[in-house]
Amino acid sequence: MFSVKTLLVVLFLHVMLASMATEAASSSKVKRVKPPKPVKHVQEILTCKSRKSKCFKKPVKCPMECPKVKPKNPKDKTCFLDCYSPKCEVVCRSRKPNCNGPGAACYDPRFIGGDGIVFYFHGRSNEHFTLVFDSDFQINARFIGLRPQGRTRDYTWIQALGLKFGHHNFTLEATKTEKWDDNVDHLKLSHDGMELIIPEGHSSVWNSTNGDIQVERTSTTNSVTVTIFDLAEISVNVIPVSEEDSKIHNYQIPTNDRFAHLEVQFRFFGLSSNVEGILGRTYRQDFENPAKPGVAMPVIGGDDKYKTCSLLATDCALCVFSPDNIKDEHESITMEYDMLDCKGGRNGITCKK
Ligand SMILES: *[C@@H]1O[C@H](CO)[C@@H](O)[C@H](O)[C@H]1NC(C)=O
Ligand SMILES: *[C@@H]1O[C@H](CO)[C@@H](O)[C@H](O)[C@H]1NC(C)=O
Repeated sequence: MFSVKTLLVVLFLHVMLASMATEAASSSKVKRVKPPKPVKHVQEILTCKSRKSKCFKKPVKCPMECPKVKPKNPKDKTCFLDCYSPKCEVVCRSRKPNCNGPGAACYDPRFIGGDGIVFYFHGRSNEHFTLVFDSDFQINARFIGLRPQGRTRDYTWIQALGLKFGHHNFTLEATKTEKWDDNVDHLKLSHDGMELIIPEGHSSVWNSTNGDIQVERTSTTNSVTVTIFDLAEISVNVIPVSEEDSKIHNYQIPTNDRFAHLEVQFRFFGLSSNVEGILGRTYRQDFENPAKPGVAMPVIGGDDKYKTCSLLATDCALCVFSPDNIKDEHESITMEYDMLDCKGGRNGITCKK
C-alpha cells in the first residue's frame, strides 16, 4: 500500500513536470520543419524530325527510370528515342559505347556485326580500311599497331575515324601519348579540314551550321557521340592499351607510346541493302558471315577490297561513295537493334534476336 506521503510526492512531481512542459512549449517557438520537397521526375517529351521516322512529330514521353536526355550525372542512363526503329518507343541506355553490343569495334579490333556475329579484322598498322560505306556515306578507320619480333602479323587498334557524307568531311582521332591520364583529353576532331574545339564537360555540344552533324561529349574528357542526321550515330571512347592486356597478349608495347585508340559503337539509320565495308556488309540481309559463331577467334579478311589510301579517301576496290548520291528511301532496310541481345564477355559472346 502507498502511504499518503508517497502519494503526495508523486502528485507533486506530476504537477512539476506538467508545468515544465507548458513552459517549454510557450517559451521556445516551435520550429516547423518543412517536409522534404518531392523529387521531380520531369519526364522529357521527345519527337523525331525526320520524315522517314515512324515517330515523325509524334510526342513520346521518357520513362521514369531515365527521365532526361542529358542527365546531370554523366553515369545515369539517358532517355533515347530511336527515330529509325519500326517501333516508336523510348528506351533507357548508357551514353558510352557498348563493346559487347551490335555495331561495336573494340580491342585489337574485335567487331560485332549487325548480324550479331563476332569477328576480328586485323588489317595492317599505319594503313586505312573502310568500315562502312553506302552510296551516300563512308566511314574509314586508320589502324595503328606493332609487330613484336617473331610474329607473323601486326597487332592493330583503331586510332582514327574518317567520315564522308555529302560534300563534308569529319575526322576523329586519338592523339598519341607517352603517359596516360584520364583527365587529359586525347581527342582531336575536325570538320571540313577545320579543327574543332569542344569545351570539356560531359554535355558540351558542337553542331554544324546546317545541323547535319552533331558532336556531344559524353564525359568530361575522352568520350563523345557523333550523330550524322539520318545516317549514323557513333559513340566513342579514347583509351590506352591496358598494361594487363599488354601482358596477357605479349604486345610488347614500347615505353614511349600507350597506343591510345578508339572503342566505338555504331548505329546506322536506314542503310541500303547494298551497304558494304568490313562492318557494313554484316548488316545486309544476304550476307553470309564467314565467321561462324562458336569459333574462338574468327578472323575475316578483305584487306584488298577495303583498303583506302587515306583516312578520307573513297578509293577502295569496292567503294561506291559519291558526294552527290542520294539514297532511294524505298531501298533502305530497317533494323531492330534493340532486339539483338548479346551475352558474354570479351572471349565469348553470342547475340540472339
Ligand atoms: C574532304 O576530304 C577530301 C580528301 O582529303 C578533300 O579532297 C576535300 O577537299 C575535303 N572537303 C572538304 C569540304 O574539306
Ligand atoms: C544543336 O542542335 C540540336 C538539335 O537541333 C539543338 O537541340 C541544340 O540546341 C543545338 N546546340 C547548339 C550548341 O547549337
